[in-house]
Amino acid sequence: MPDAETLASPRGRILVIDDEADIRESLETLLDLEGYQVATADGGVSGLDRFERGVFDLVLLDLMMPDRSGLEVLDDIRKRDRDTPVFLITAYGSVEVAVEALKSGANDYFSKPWDNEKLIIEIDRQIARTRLEQENRELRRALKQRYSFPNIVGKSDRMQRVLDLVSQVAPSKSNILITGETGTGKELIAKAIHAASPRAERPFVGVNSGSVPPDLLESALFGHVKGAFTGAVANRKGYFETADHGTLFLDEIGTLTPDMQVKLLRVLQEREFMPVGSNDVVRVDVRIIAATNSDLKKLVDDGKFREDLYYRLNVINVQLPPLRDRKEDVPALIEHFFQIYCRENEKFLDAQGRSRLRFEPEALHILMDYNWPGNVRELENAIERAAVLATEEEVPAAVLPEPVLHSAGVRIPREPGEQLPSDASLFEVVADFERRAIIDILEQVNYSQTEAAARLKIPLSTLNQKIKRLDIPIRKKSEKAG
Ligand SMILES: Nc1ncnc2c1ncn2[C@@H]1O[C@H](COP(=O)(O)OP(=O)(O)OP(=O)(O)O)[C@@H](O)[C@H]1O
Ligand SMILES: [Mg+2]
Repeated sequence: MPDAETLASPRGRILVIDDEADIRESLETLLDLEGYQVATADGGVSGLDRFERGVFDLVLLDLMMPDRSGLEVLDDIRKRDRDTPVFLITAYGSVEVAVEALKSGANDYFSKPWDNEKLIIEIDRQIARTRLEQENRELRRALKQRYSFPNIVGKSDRMQRVLDLVSQVAPSKSNILITGETGTGKELIAKAIHAASPRAERPFVGVNSGSVPPDLLESALFGHVKGAFTGAVANRKGYFETADHGTLFLDEIGTLTPDMQVKLLRVLQEREFMPVGSNDVVRVDVRIIAATNSDLKKLVDDGKFREDLYYRLNVINVQLPPLRDRKEDVPALIEHFFQIYCRENEKFLDAQGRSRLRFEPEALHILMDYNWPGNVRELENAIERAAVLATEEEVPAAVLPEPVLHSAGVRIPREPGEQLPSDASLFEVVADFERRAIIDILEQVNYSQTEAAARLKIPLSTLNQKIKRLDIPIRKKSEKAG
């Protein structure tokens, strides 16, 4: 909302700071005639005071004043406000003063006597430029807010670039192809695009082209009429119709049979199709987001995927980087999943409902070093598991899944007499010690786990977890007895 003052003065409000009365007066007359609203001050101190009490579109500031120099006042203005443009007025049009003024944050300078017409043109231009910059900044802020993706973790440059692209393309109707290894977040991104699009209130329908048997896929996508084939006992809408005015997410697009590729191409071209067994054409308005973890271009080169369909789908390509190429996201992802799974399991929550779990440093190192072939999904599973198995706030490395520990060179000796390697890590030593201690007790209580848990003073469930994790061989009581 513009305030009354701005409304009263559409050209802008200008503050003139100059100690010479005749200069103030001539500037005031000139600017007033041009339709500006003018305020004046007769020195550096009063000028700064006036600046602080008003809202101005531009300041005209004299360089030489008896109480304070213009550069000092400029400095003070810039400390309070980085944006309001300031023009310096100097009696000596020397280059050095001009350079210094611009360096200290003035937008322009004029020498006395100035050219009225030129001064007005520059004031107008500067005010317009500043207003435009402010509007742009506000627009960008509004955009950012609208397209902030609260459930997507991605501080890394590579993910930031992906998210920028996503917010850029979301409002359009263009088809999008999302590529990336398994577990990189293709479906998550597809949903985010839908949610940030004008179709957000309409359906998002996901179809996994790979998991629907090829002979059923056609009717699944396009629907069928009663009697179209054995078992078609009633008319049925397909996913295309369900997704009308919304988004259709075609997952694992690389698995489409040649026959289905032709049919899909036809819908993309014509925006219409016929349900199986029907002669009636159905028109739909559907945005397609396709995803694949295979190299679709290579499938095209090998003649396994139609080139024309490839280009129809791949209007915009969103490429998700593998997690190993953006390790800096790992800590934030761990934190994100701890929050989710502690809440889900109602474990280790503080009064605000935030997770208190964290990994011990050793575990964090292992997680950072791992190369995550299953990407974010694999990390998510590891954290879910850790949240379930955790018995104390600081989660030990021991709860990490076997492949993760294995890659970190964590080996647990399996045979009773086997020695730990001399380069064993502290984690291995502790795990080995824990394992031997548990086996000892189990032997003593004839492999009764309830008794062993009581002797070790840990819950039975914890003992069970340890037995699994440490790969402790369990003999049945009868075996031992027999
Ligand atoms: N950047 C991220 N921030 C938060 N969670 C994420 C992120 N990326 C992926 N996830 C989560 O990881 C899991 C796997 O993501 P998603 O299912 O989208 O992967 P995908 O690429 O479709 O995998 P696939 O190729 O195996 O189908 C989901 O639970 C998803 O919410
Ligand atoms: Mg997926």
